Amino acid sequence: MRLDAIKAAEAKLLLTTYERYPILFVRGEGVHLIDENGGRYLDLLSGIGVNALGYGHPAIEMAIDEQSRKLIHISNLFFHEGQAELALRLTEASGMDRAFFCNSGTEAIEAALKLARAHAGMRRSEGKVLGTKVLALEHSFHGRTMGSVAATHKEKYREPFAPVMPDVEFVRFNDVSDLKAKFSSDSCAVLLEAVQGEGGIRPVSREFIQAARQLTQSTGALLIADEIQSGLGRTGKWFAYQHYDVQPDVTTLAKPIAGGLPLGAMLCTEDAAQAIHPGMHGTTFGGGPLACAVAMAVFDAMEKEHVLDHVNEIGNYFRQKLDQLKQKHSAITEVRGLGLMLAAELDSAELAKTALAEMMKRRILINRTSETVLRFLPPYILGKQHVDEAIAALDAIFTEHSPATAGEHAQTEGGTHIG
Ligand SMILES: Cc1ncc(COP(=O)(O)O)c(C=O)c1O
Repeated sequence: MRLDAIKAAEAKLLLTTYERYPILFVRGEGVHLIDENGGRYLDLLSGIGVNALGYGHPAIEMAIDEQSRKLIHISNLFFHEGQAELALRLTEASGMDRAFFCNSGTEAIEAALKLARAHAGMRRSEGKVLGTKVLALEHSFHGRTMGSVAATHKEKYREPFAPVMPDVEFVRFNDVSDLKAKFSSDSCAVLLEAVQGEGGIRPVSREFIQAARQLTQSTGALLIADEIQSGLGRTGKWFAYQHYDVQPDVTTLAKPIAGGLPLGAMLCTEDAAQAIHPGMHGTTFGGGPLACAVAMAVFDAMEKEHVLDHVNEIGNYFRQKLDQLKQKHSAITEVRGLGLMLAAELDSAELAKTALAEMMKRRILINRTSETVLRFLPPYILGKQHVDEAIAALDAIFTEHSPATAGEHAQTEGGTHIG
């Protein structure tokens, strides 16, 4: 079927959950996607932060090929070779003790929320005072199921489905006094993204995350770091919280973990894990043999190819180029991010829309989030030539569509840092 026929069929048959771009991709190669007519697109979005090793990575193809011939699914009623191996790698990389595998980001968050409630219940049964409230942050995005959406800040995601999970309160982003005012022994968890993704690539401040750590430690509540977008190397470290010298009690992973196959994970401390017993939580598909084998291949390839070093190097290069672009175009009000989780905030939503459309015309895929923010989540294997291509395109677009005074921002701060 060609694009027009697919569009017509989907319009009739699918729930209208998505507004898709009118492109039909049929293949991927490295950092490029190829459409039905052979058009090549530079992909700076990687399936919203999923295709970290790009398209057609031989290690991923080989793992899928080999494991699919052996065993694809077995359920969690039986053992298979993959989960313990992968749990070992993930717990070593994260500093956590135990893992629970699921299929997506939102499921990892559900597992973390259930764990926080069960953990508080366990403490109460020991005579401690610990409530059921979850503190989340303004601009947060944690997913679309009833628990994760309750902790997602934008009202438009929650309101049509009310009442969502009760007992969630939002804290003003990076506002330590608001956190202190809202945190109490009523809180069973503080849930945060060390670098907010959907919310516009906003790193939390060191002061804020450290305050969240101290407060939760003081009562025994859990600090949950949602690393679904920022985790597994995206920011140049395995986990974004590692930039802050803070160790949470729980962390969640999904997007890049299994090279594009659905896999999520919730990792936690031994103490938190004590709250979960057989039958309390589970999943049919989660942590299946195929997804685990591919995740191991992704991990191995990242280590063998020194991918974290590359993310740091190319991320710095990209960041510098964006900063230079900001010096030249006053329409860019801020450049933010860490590693290859980057954003340029613009002075208008209209310009951001235009920039996105113009990039698409030039066959470069980026994304707009929080109305005014251009978000870059490229594959980790991005090269300098790809950064140069994207920057040259953005430069031309801003020159044409927002030709304001060059150098207007030359004296202002160069973006958000974590310090
Ligand atoms: C930080 C964060 N948490 C949770 C989710 C939800 O993940 P999923 O779409 O796999 O359910 C996302 C998805 O974008 C995310 O960025």
